[in-house]
Amino acid sequence: MDFRDRQIVITGGGGALGRAVVEALLAAGATCHVPCRDLGEAQRFPLREHQRVALRVTGTLAEEAAVTRLYAGIAPLWASIHLAGGFAAGPLRDTTAATLRQQLDMNVVTAFLCCRAAANAMAARGGRIVNVAARPALEWRSGAGMTAYTASKAAVAALTVALAEEVSRDGILVNAVAPSILDTPANRRAMPTADYNLWPKVEEVAATILFLASPENRVTRGAVVPVYGRS
Ligand SMILES: NC(=O)c1ccc[n+]([C@@H]2O[C@H](COP(=O)([O-])OP(=O)(O)OC[C@H]3O[C@@H](n4cnc5c(N)ncnc54)[C@H](OP(=O)(O)O)[C@@H]3O)[C@@H](O)[C@H]2O)c1
Repeated sequence: MDFRDRQIVITGGGGALGRAVVEALLAAGATCHVPCRDLGEAQRFPLREHQRVALRVTGTLAEEAAVTRLYAGIAPLWASIHLAGGFAAGPLRDTTAATLRQQLDMNVVTAFLCCRAAANAMAARGGRIVNVAARPALEWRSGAGMTAYTASKAAVAALTVALAEEVSRDGILVNAVAPSILDTPANRRAMPTADYNLWPKVEEVAATILFLASPENRVTRGAVVPVYGRS
């Protein structure tokens, strides 16, 4: 896939999956615009010296002003990949409203606001948007014990499909991936006895995301693509 001269926003680019996506996009020739919450995060970003990496200090992407700062002046925007998000587990009986709101902010509000900014930026020329849901967004029963997370990722999946219909005539193809448990250092620490071989690798999921974000994706829209590996 050829991403030369393509301007791409990657939220959550500093995370485990985000770094794999940024590396793959750079290898394919893209220019990557990556938001950081603060200057410290920007200074720790491993690819900060790369000439096709543009870091933008935005603050939380659950705020409209931060999202406006992120997309300002990127022209023409080809693709926007929304990986910012996070996980919370726990039985519903112990889950506070604050946790639910935090999950909605991290997973839904960040994706919603970035989709809106991207769709506006792409209205004239078309483009690609990729969100990240999660397996329980497709298989609700598997979300037992993590209901706030499941509800928030299910909302990301619904947002993806509805928006895909809304903007298809503008030449904007909107899709999402739904990972199972990714093979990341954090997950290995949290589940030390699991069989890591079954988990999808971040590079493998990045490859699916790159296709959905690429000009070679000419017809796929409104898909929430399971990326489960062998798990
Ligand atoms: N890891 C898995 O097994 C798994 C499974 C299914 C789905 N997913 C989803 O895949 C995505 C990436 O996962 P990951 O494992 O790479 O997670 P990660 O390493 O924790 O990275 C998530 C990134 O999102 C950023 N972020 C979170 N909330 C934000 C906000 N409000 N504003 C701006 N940035 C924000 C984080 O920044 P800070 O570090 O500053 O918070 C971090 O850079 C997430 O959406 C996650 O829910 C992951």
